[in-house]
Amino acid sequence: MRLRIMTEQDVPGGVRLNTLSGWNQTAADWRRFLENSPRACFVMEHDGKVVGTAATIPYESRFAWIAMVLVDPEHRKQGIGTDLLKKAIEHLDRSQVVTIKLDATPQGKPIYAKLGFVEEYEIERWILKREPGAISTTPVSTRPALSEMEREQVFEADKEFFGADRSFLLRALCDEAPEFATAVWEDGLPQGYAFGRRGLFADQLGPWMAKNSEAGERILQGFLAKTSRETLIVDCLKSNSMAAELLGACGFVPSRSLTRMFRGPNTYAGKPDLFCAILGPEFG
Ligand SMILES: CC(C)(COP(=O)(O)OP(=O)(O)OC[C@H]1O[C@@H](n2cnc3c(N)ncnc32)[C@H](O)[C@@H]1OP(=O)(O)O)[C@@H](O)C(=O)NCCC(=O)NCCS
Repeated sequence: MRLRIMTEQDVPGGVRLNTLSGWNQTAADWRRFLENSPRACFVMEHDGKVVGTAATIPYESRFAWIAMVLVDPEHRKQGIGTDLLKKAIEHLDRSQVVTIKLDATPQGKPIYAKLGFVEEYEIERWILKREPGAISTTPVSTRPALSEMEREQVFEADKEFFGADRSFLLRALCDEAPEFATAVWEDGLPQGYAFGRRGLFADQLGPWMAKNSEAGERILQGFLAKTSRETLIVDCLKSNSMAAELLGACGFVPSRSLTRMFRGPNTYAGKPDLFCAILGPEFG
């Protein structure tokens, strides 16, 4: 076993592990981590094969995210997950990152708790599986739904709600799936906004912010009209009953729980009450 820094050559190994766990990330998602944290993503290698991963991503100097903690099912319960996690934490501590955050699966949660992470709030993954006949076949325009000026306004608002600037990620989502980037405006201010991604097995809506039900519904309906995938996912804050009602009315059902956790002071908590959905557990 060799624990080392992840490189571009390891991306297929990473995708193999997230596919084995039924996760939705693509090679592009792995590359986002490598581009933003070239020396702070790690793999465990065994006989030339990637059998474990842990990635990190910094958000200004406010906090960093730990994500993609995955171990090959054949190598679990041997301490690999803990070793990778400790390596990521050690690196972030050395880089003087005071706060580390993550969204834990029920399997990951005990390991994080042992390493000092505490719970912030609960997240619920909602899923919609559609019959091919129920999907609109009208061609989707990929014209950017947000102008450059509108994007900047949304990025600024998102910084306040998320707790740090993550425009580098939102900009990439706008470029890769411009049809999912949208906002609802009132008096020149965003009452709601959302971005989306085409994942491995599903299209995902998020982040999705809405100040009221009308804005939330317009965004959700817009997403449903634009996606052509059979499976759709949204990671909602459990406390947001408005999002649950909107999703339930469209046929989404809750599928699994996640727990947002943090280690260190949670100084930049943002305004999570306004989020219907997070970007995804790997990015916050
Ligand atoms: C969560 C996950 C990463 C854990 O990886 P892992 O390598 O099995 O983790 P560890 O071996 O460090 O720890 C797992 C358990 O095995 C135990 N363990 C570790 N070494 C052991 C050994 N030699 N003998 C017996 N048990 C051992 C640990 O104490 C821990 O016990 P706990 O579950 O009661 O806390 C892995 O299960 C996985 O990939 N799951 C799917 C993806 C996922 O949910 N990732 C977490 C994202 S938040």
